[in-house]
Amino acid sequence: MSTTQRPAVAVSGLSVRFGTDLALQDVTLHVPAGEFVAVIGPNGAGKTTLLRAIAGVLQPEAGAVQVDGWEAGRLSPRGRAQLMAVVPQVEGPPPGFTVAEAVLMGRMPHLHRIAPVGAADHDHADLAMHRARVAHLRDRLVETLSGGERQRVLIARALAQDARILLLDEPTAHLDIAVQLEIMDLLAELHRGGLTLVAALHDLNLAAQYCRLIVLLDRGRIAAAGPPEEVLTPVVLQRVYGAAVIIRPHPAGGRPHITVVGRRAALGAENPTAAVQQQRRRVVVAIDGPAGAGKSTVARSLARHLGFRYVNTGWMYRAVAREALRRGISLRDAAALAEIARTLRMEFQETEAGPAIFADGEEVTEAVGAPSVSEAASVVSAHAAVREALVERQRRLGADGGIVMEGRDIGTVVFPDAEVKLYVTAALEERVRRRLQELRKRGETVSVDEVRAAEEERDRRDRERVHSPLRVAPDATVVDTTGRSPEDVVKEVLAIYRRRTDVV
Ligand code: DC
Repeated sequence: MSTTQRPAVAVSGLSVRFGTDLALQDVTLHVPAGEFVAVIGPNGAGKTTLLRAIAGVLQPEAGAVQVDGWEAGRLSPRGRAQLMAVVPQVEGPPPGFTVAEAVLMGRMPHLHRIAPVGAADHDHADLAMHRARVAHLRDRLVETLSGGERQRVLIARALAQDARILLLDEPTAHLDIAVQLEIMDLLAELHRGGLTLVAALHDLNLAAQYCRLIVLLDRGRIAAAGPPEEVLTPVVLQRVYGAAVIIRPHPAGGRPHITVVGRRAALGAENPTAAVQQQRRRVVVAIDGPAGAGKSTVARSLARHLGFRYVNTGWMYRAVAREALRRGISLRDAAALAEIARTLRMEFQETEAGPAIFADGEEVTEAVGAPSVSEAASVVSAHAAVREALVERQRRLGADGGIVMEGRDIGTVVFPDAEVKLYVTAALEERVRRRLQELRKRGETVSVDEVRAAEEERDRRDRERVHSPLRVAPDATVVDTTGRSPEDVVKEVLAIYRRRTDVV
């Protein structure tokens, strides 16, 4: 969650302790100016503490909070209030005052000890009442108002404060559903008007529907942060809330909509939780496509979101080719190559640097990326006997499902029954550009023309080989990544996954 602009709120390495309890631990978060951010999480996750720390009213044990470039804890109460306005959770507007008087209190940070409330302050308060739609209630005593009206008065008071940042602690708590939407609509309108909003929200669906960025707290730490499609995934929600959920696109707008179907602990044959888990375990995601189309980025990201294993079958062909080169075996010797394909120990592991492949116990992720190995793998993969051996191993790897496997023939040959099949592609020029970048990062000196020729040749071999040529499976969804950001592609792929599996 960062932008090139200075963020409205920058929290870095923030820890807050209450006695022996660490209420927040090493929280780092950037809220871009003009964003509407939801802070979600189970009870006691630290939502209110985070808002209070941003508001500068808590002394952190470690880390820093900057608001609009200012150190929040060092600001005077007046300075703080001019930068940000807080809409508290339980406290209503003070009783005994009219709405107009309660809203006028928002002008306090702008008043001087010797100067009384002026006409300009009344104007600000009037405008705030209009924006929050409480102007018609101006002469009513606040204690006679409904819950929704009182919440709007609190928002009006915050608006009268004239701050650019609004911090709201569960603004929809204890309100009827229609009134909740009314309040959220009002906040969305303020957001469109340019305010930065950070709201602690209990209701995940409201957060998904109204906010573009979501921060999920779990026991004082950030469990996930990003757009709703990325944060609100079954794996993450199950881990943090201990609840099994079904997520479908909301009928209006397509944002994720969450239905809770059971508790994690309650497993039984007829229990939806078990059904959800079983389906999750079974699902195989097959990702095919030409080299450099962005398959790996999509596959890794999807695997991470779903909590699935990730297997790059190209690495297996590459590991066999590398071993053959090392042993001096001819790339035409199909029998010897097939023997390597059957017997070479290969393991897929998650390392700190990301997914990795080990051959005979040695990490070869980097080594199998060398251009000489690419060339050799392309030749090696054309032998039927090699393919047979590796396809067999790939089927064993994915037998229990819960796997994202990428390659050239996963949806057509290895797992023709895969529940989700994607064919990821991109225009040749774009693939050439990406490959060139990758090679230059490795320190290789190559020209565009060389890379284009090599890519065309590999494509041709992939498509024209007799055994398992690269084809779009009839039931695959084609995803073209040309000119798109990885985030954009992953969003589409997650939506495809949801449509295909229904239960995720
Ligand atoms: O995806 P990659 O470039 O790392 O793949 C290396 C080689 O292996 C490439 O020439 C295509 C081939 N391959 C294949 O034939 N079948 C697969 N399932 C995966 C890769």
